Amino acid sequence: MPNTPEKPLILVIDDEEALRDGCRQVLEKCGYEVITAEQGIEGIKLARERMPDMVFVDLKMPHMSGMEIIEIMSRDLPDIVLVMITGFASIVSAVEAIQKGAYDYLPKPFNPDQLRALTKRGLDHRNLKIETKRLREEKDRMEKNFITFVSHEMRSPLVVIRQYIEALNEIAGKSFDKDVKEIIERCRKRVQSLEEMVEHWLDISRIENGTLAQQKVSLSLASIISRSVEEMTPLCRKKGISLETNISKKLPQITGDAESLVRVFTNIIGNATKYTPEGGKITITVKNDEYYTTASIADTGMGIPLDKLPLIFEPFFRCRGKDEKIIGSGLGLTFCKKIMESHNGGIEVSSKEGKGTTFVLTFPVSDNAAKGNTGHTSKSI
Ligand SMILES: Nc1ncnc2c1ncn2[C@@H]1O[C@H](COP(=O)(O)OP(=O)(O)OP(=O)(O)O)[C@@H](O)[C@H]1O
Ligand SMILES: [Mg+2]
Repeated sequence: MPNTPEKPLILVIDDEEALRDGCRQVLEKCGYEVITAEQGIEGIKLARERMPDMVFVDLKMPHMSGMEIIEIMSRDLPDIVLVMITGFASIVSAVEAIQKGAYDYLPKPFNPDQLRALTKRGLDHRNLKIETKRLREEKDRMEKNFITFVSHEMRSPLVVIRQYIEALNEIAGKSFDKDVKEIIERCRKRVQSLEEMVEHWLDISRIENGTLAQQKVSLSLASIISRSVEEMTPLCRKKGISLETNISKKLPQITGDAESLVRVFTNIIGNATKYTPEGGKITITVKNDEYYTTASIADTGMGIPLDKLPLIFEPFFRCRGKDEKIIGSGLGLTFCKKIMESHNGGIEVSSKEGKGTTFVLTFPVSDNAAKGNTGHTSKSI
């Protein structure tokens, strides 16, 4: 039975009749509804039936101790605010009660003001907890709706448009003259980049609500890099850019999600390819110490202006804004940063305009990073 916010329900469990009656009188005068029980089993039964907002439990009672009651209630009825009434010198028990889930303790003897003040504070705490829970549920629900909305209302029509363009090319492509072909190809590219943007967007939401890259296993970074390099080599060749790797032989295992890490590397190598002119070079170097493995991806491309460097991991940020001739959504690096954070790793960038850009990814080594995590912070911009 939910209690009305105007009349909170308080349960007092104490074997002393005088204390039960005293609490009742004080709290009823404050406008609360008060129910009482003289021992543990009866009190727990009453709490389950009436779901009070707050329960005061005496520590020393026959049959079942206050500590046991606190333990059971905080496990089974976590929304109720529990307060332990302790003897004058029972600070140790009070600490134990808080460790077991009590919100606070009230040492005996106490006066009406102390009881009123603690009750008010406990009820405020409960309201705050309920509000936080409600907001969190609301946020989860909105995120889920957002993902469903984006995938149904945006991704699906884009896939269909792209398929129609491909079908059009297949059916009548040969009869189109050069201008028409060019227009259709531009449409295809635009639709494809919109599709990619929606995919990135969905992935970022999935990382944020914890449904992407959750299954982390022990894996070899060298194999992640070799998969990524294999995937990106045709693109580099097409653009006349050389791609070199320089990987230390004795790399320790890292803990991670292989698919999303491959995508981090292909995104960064993809950027290096996009923003490096023909004839350029991309070098991937991997080193490690006892605690961290670092992978740097350096290119000889156009570089990033110094004032733009702190912004490049922001969603939708592109250094050249609307003047950017190269197609992109500005979400690739946001995705990389979020994936690296979910791996307790770091991502850093350094760049010189006209000379090139280097991204450095830092991964904690499976066992050692936790033990030796002193002083070394994985920086991310
Ligand atoms: N290697 C690089 N060299 C120069 N500029 C870069 C490099 N990598 C990223 N940038 C700059 O940072 C911006 C953000 O990169 P990000 O990968 O997030 O988005 P994008 O490449 O524009 O689009 P997409 O979402 O398709 O990846 C780019 O628009 C580009 O201006
Ligand atoms: Mg990119």
